Amino acid sequence: MRPGRGDGLKTLCALESIPDPGAREFRAMVDGEKRRVFVVRRGGQVFGYVNSCPHVGAPLNLEDNKFLDLFQTSILCANHFALFEIESGRCTRGPCNGQSLQPFAVEIRDGQVMQLE
Ligand code: FES
Repeated sequence: MRPGRGDGLKTLCALESIPDPGAREFRAMVDGEKRRVFVVRRGGQVFGYVNSCPHVGAPLNLEDNKFLDLFQTSILCANHFALFEIESGRCTRGPCNGQSLQPFAVEIRDGQVMQLE
């Protein structure tokens, strides 16, 4: 049975459709509002965040699905070059140093990336 509303899970995409390492953006309901969110993949792990920089609330990316830095080791805000830890969303460099991205709960089930509602 395909998960849907009411069972606490919603399918976003197949894990294989996200580059490794890489990221993909979605629109999803977060706290009752439709928001831009993104999911970063690292091997068999995924990390989800709302696409809003704690600096000024702008989307982090300027190009579609481009959320990682040159080395693919941190999340990059392309506006003022803040860097965030992939695992925690905590800003480690830039104007919002010490602040964090808002988490967006995701997990992998049967090769699918699922939003936890
Ligand atoms: S908007 Fe992200 S660092 Fe300024």
